[in-house]
Amino acid sequence: MDTAGIAPLLSMTDVTKVYHAGQSLFGKTGSPVVALDHISLEINPGEIFGLVGESGSGKTTASRLIVGLETPDGGRIQLDGQNIVGLKGRARLEFTKQVQVIFQDPYQSLNAHFSIFDTVCEPLIIHGLGDRVARRVRVCEALETAGLTPPEMYLERYPHQLSGGQRQRVAIARAMVLEPRFLIADEPTSMLDASISFQIFQLLNRLRETFGVTMLFITHSLAAARNLCDRVGVIYRGRLVEQGSAQETIMHPRHPYTKALLDAHPRFGSSGHRRFGTLLLTERPRPSTDHCLFYPRCGLAVDNTCNLQAPTLKTLDAGHRVSCFLF
Ligand SMILES: Nc1ncnc2c1ncn2[C@@H]1O[C@H](COP(=O)(O)OP(=O)(O)OP(=O)(O)O)[C@@H](O)[C@H]1O
Ligand SMILES: [Mg+2]
Repeated sequence: MDTAGIAPLLSMTDVTKVYHAGQSLFGKTGSPVVALDHISLEINPGEIFGLVGESGSGKTTASRLIVGLETPDGGRIQLDGQNIVGLKGRARLEFTKQVQVIFQDPYQSLNAHFSIFDTVCEPLIIHGLGDRVARRVRVCEALETAGLTPPEMYLERYPHQLSGGQRQRVAIARAMVLEPRFLIADEPTSMLDASISFQIFQLLNRLRETFGVTMLFITHSLAAARNLCDRVGVIYRGRLVEQGSAQETIMHPRHPYTKALLDAHPRFGSSGHRRFGTLLLTERPRPSTDHCLFYPRCGLAVDNTCNLQAPTLKTLDAGHRVSCFLF
């Protein structure tokens, strides 16, 4: 979709998050983990933006910062141009109406002791919306939106009585019941098999088309992002290394890490086999000086450049940005 010139709905500017591991039994303090390192990205209204990276790259940290479960150590996060860091009281409540999140594991995100009705109704109660009758109507609408029909069949059931795909649909119904403007889906299908995952992608796409919901879709799979996203950002150890339209980034990846991620799923690649050869090294020793974060693993690294300085994001064409000295 062409959103050039439109003000972003969500923006992160120079956001950094450092975790300090606690002391161990022996009094040792672990070294700090930089989960996000000066991340900047903008998500436009109605867009599905994919944040893609391997395990531990900082994807969930980004989602926790956006919904306010964590506070950044630096930078700004804004919704509609308004600061959303550190909101309290009424402002926080108002914000949670607009921004909802679906987590990876519906087993953990749904309360096993709550019926499906109670699960989906709870946000309405928290926000004091509707009376008993209106709430029931709204819960049924949300279940239908999430593809659980007829909704009456599900109201009195409990999470353990549903399949994994149905449970994730309940989580989506709960997220949609307040009609949010912005939805974060944090690896929503990683516990599901391929055909159910595909149905959930279709559902997310329908939510965008029907309700205009803007989305941050978090995944470790570029193939999944290609199915769903307008634009993607590729994150490596807390830094954005490449960003662009989903088509362009996946068909013509520039950063060696993006290429390596694509090679990790060769059956989804255009030719059905590895496209890029050996790009990932087992780790080289880390240089003591400043260096490209990917240098220790990069099969294309250039000595006396990549080991001596860190690249910044450069814009190539049509909004395609890459942080690599090869470009
Ligand atoms: N509460 C915490 N305390 C200490 N370190 C943390 C904490 N949460 C995350 N981290 C670390 O921050 C880094 C980023 O973690 P994060 O959960 O954001 O990664 P992720 O990309 O979501 O990974 P995954 O794909 O496995 O879900 C990791 O190194 C992780 O160990
Ligand atoms: Mg995660």
